[in-house]
This record gives sequence, C-alpha cells and structure tokens, in this order.
Amino acid sequence: MANTKSVPKEPKVELDFNNVMADILKSDQGLTIKEINKLKPEMTEAHKDLMQRRKNEELPFYDLPFQTQELKSIRRLADDIRKRTENFVVLGIGGSALGTRALFKALSPHNHNLLESSKRRFPRLFVVDNIDPETLTTLLNFVDPRHTFFNIVTKSGTTTETISQFMIVHDRLRRSLGRSSVRDHVIVTTDSKQGFMRELVNQEDYHALEVPEGVGGRFSVLSPVSLLPLAVTGINVVELLKGAVVASKACTHANMMRNPAYLFAALNFALRQWRKRSILVMMPYADALMDFAEWFNQLWAESLGKQYGIDGKEVLAGQTPVKALGATDQHSQLQLYMEGPEDKVVVFVGQKFYRVDTRIPSIFKENEGLAYLGGYTLGELIQTEQAATARALTMAGRPNMTLTIPRITPASMGYLMYLLEVAAVASGYLYKIDPFDQPGVELSKKFTYGLMGRPGFESFKEQFNRGNRPKKKYII
Ligand code: PA5
Repeated sequence: MANTKSVPKEPKVELDFNNVMADILKSDQGLTIKEINKLKPEMTEAHKDLMQRRKNEELPFYDLPFQTQELKSIRRLADDIRKRTENFVVLGIGGSALGTRALFKALSPHNHNLLESSKRRFPRLFVVDNIDPETLTTLLNFVDPRHTFFNIVTKSGTTTETISQFMIVHDRLRRSLGRSSVRDHVIVTTDSKQGFMRELVNQEDYHALEVPEGVGGRFSVLSPVSLLPLAVTGINVVELLKGAVVASKACTHANMMRNPAYLFAALNFALRQWRKRSILVMMPYADALMDFAEWFNQLWAESLGKQYGIDGKEVLAGQTPVKALGATDQHSQLQLYMEGPEDKVVVFVGQKFYRVDTRIPSIFKENEGLAYLGGYTLGELIQTEQAATARALTMAGRPNMTLTIPRITPASMGYLMYLLEVAAVASGYLYKIDPFDQPGVELSKKFTYGLMGRPGFESFKEQFNRGNRPKKKYII
C-alpha cells in the first residue's frame, strides 16, 4: 500500500534536541541554554578554521558532493559493468566498505539479492569486509566467476584484509577463466599514486578509480569508493550527491544554533564532558537504516576516540557509539537505557513517511486486546512507538534527541551522512583532537605483520611473543 501523503521536496534533516534540555527533562542530567552557549566561541573559531582549510583544499571531503564530472564517468562505467555482470562484489574494510553497505541496505529494494534476475534490474551486490574464511569461501562457491565483477577498494592499498581477499579472488579467476581474463573482472579503487594495489594496477593494467587525495576511508562515502558500487546496483547517485549539496549549505552556517552538524557536535560534546554521557546510542526506527548505524559507529568511534589531543596532552576523548534498532530493541536494550547507568544519550533516527505501508485490519472487534490496533498502519504504529520511547526516556530524566528525515531517499541519505561527517569533524575541534587519524589501530596491525612474516616487522613478532608469556596463567 503506497503512502499517499505528500513528501517534502527538500531532503532537510530535522534535529529535535528538546529532550536533552534540563527544563524539558526536569533533571540535572539535561543541559541548559547557558551551557550550550558556552561552546559558541569555540565553534565559531572552529568554523573559521574549517572554512579556511576547505578553501586551501585541505579538507576535500567537504566538496565531494560537487564532483559532477567524476560522477558522469562513474555512471558511464557503472552502465557498462552492469551489462556484463550478475554479481558485483566489493572487497574492502572499514571506510572502504561501511558506507556502501549502509546505502545499499537503505536504498535498494528489500531482499534485492534474493530476487531472481528476471525480477531484478541490477546486479546483486556483496560487500565482503571481513576475513572470516567462511564468508568469502561461501560467496566464491556461490557466484559464477564468468558473471562476477570484483571491486577491490583500499585507499592505502596496503590493508591486509583486503589484499588477502584479492589474492584469493585473483587466483580463483585465473584458474577458472585464465590469466588474461582476470582484468575483465576486476576494478580497483585506490590512491592515485601510492600503495601496493596502485603498483599492481600499473603492472597488470587493471581498470582503476581513484580515492581522492586527502579523503580518508570514513569520509569517503560520497566518493568513487561507494558511488561506483551503488551506481552499478541502480541507486540514484545523482540524487545522493544532490542531497549532500543541500546539506552542505546548512552545515556551513557559521551560527552553531542554525547549523545542525555543529549543534549535534556541541550537544554530544557537552553531554559527554559535563554529564558523563560517554555512550551514544544510534537508534533508527527502520530496518533499512541498520547498516547506516554501523557506518555512523565507525565515523564516531574512529574519528573521536583519541588518547591525545593535538597539543600532545592526554584527553581520552570520544563517545562509544552503540547501534540499536527501533522498535526491535525496545524489547532488548531499552530496559538498560531507562534504568541502567546514567551514561548514555539516545539518538533516534525517524522518518516522516515510510516508503510503503500496510494497514492493520479492523478485525477481532470483540477482543479489546487486539481491536484497538485495527485501522492504523504499521508506519503509524512504529512512529507512535518511537515517540513513546522518547517520552519515556525523557520522563526518566534520560537525554535523547531525534534526527528526522522526510523519508528514506538517496537525497535524504546524502544529507544525513554529510551532516554527520561535518559533525564528527566539528567535534574534533571541541575535543581538540585530530578526527582524521587513527593511531590506535597501528599496533595490532604491526603485530599481525610480524606474526605473518612481513619483512621489516620481525621485532613486533618478538615483542608479541615476549608479552604473551606466560601463556597459560589465566586461562581455564
Ligand atoms: O576510516 C578509515 O580510514 C579506515 O577505517 C579505513 O577505511 C580502513 O582501515 C581501510 O583502509 P583502506 O581503505 O586503506 O584499505
């Protein structure tokens, strides 16, 4: 049953922060306007610096929505690939995978991959980000290599997980189709100059796309990293970028109180620093947005979780992002959010209109336990549950806020993701940390290199083994 109400043309995202305010929460767990205003001078300075760095082309993620020329060639390439393939497999991890998966889940028809090819106008998409041997092995046994295209996505071109997957895929393709056919089934998205994958691209003459210089993984969703796979699977990438263009206007407003990205950053920073809200629960009320919450988790965790500030002092910054799903997790995690430790802020993501809806029939009229539901749509029920949960949290003095999109469309997703990217960067200024690096992930990588025998990392193997002794002491 189609939703017939009219949907706003502009993909504006509304940020409702009533329920983090002390006067609404009726609790000292809430914030006062005076406190929020304290962050204005810092945010104004941050804004000036951001705009200057953008002008100096130091923050290219800001301008990804405006890349119309690149978009044309990506769409042409996607049209060509689409005609030749049944399966499009992305091999990548972290920022090279999560945005693509989030948008595919949000914007492709439900169960797209399960539809027979006659009912599906576009190839299936698989995003294989993990090196769990069961996942890749099962997928490679399932897809026919003749009708499968592999997109190896790695900005650095050095990521162990992605490279190992590629080596397996390369070998499979070579064995089943012959070495000369490998390049007809492979496209690499990587840095334009550096990395092992770029070396291979040059050596083997693979088709390749560039991850724009200076755009890190978790800020790359609006770049060729995600645009190609999404365009291949029929998602309207033009509208996606248009939505981000609209967001870019709102998110470059100098006044924090009129800029949803700055305000989102400021509220969460204030709750974290002054109300000990160290956990941010991202809770969309839509199955289609489950993977969006996972994309957000990476953006928030990797950008803001930092031990040291830019001045070298210890800050232990960040909020732990947690993914929850409405209404499902009302029956799982909500009890904890209502009554457990006072360390969370819940961010609901709602929509004004669901893309399709179904009415609950007016039957069993004599049974009052069932009859009250008759005549409402499921959309009305889930929206009511979202409002009820927000109200309940508020009455319990638990801060929560709501991001509302008109409905799930490419444009509104472009808007929402752009907004949150700017929010992550703006938060970096408030915490005084670098949101673009991730020094904390290096040591485990180095241990892996050492243990797997990569030349130059022998000392890490030794260090690992030393630290791992005595091995059996605390294992039962
Ligand atoms: O956001 C990031 O920078 C990381 O999560 C990377 O995307 C991830 O580590 C994968 O890196 P790469 O694209 O270089 O393979």
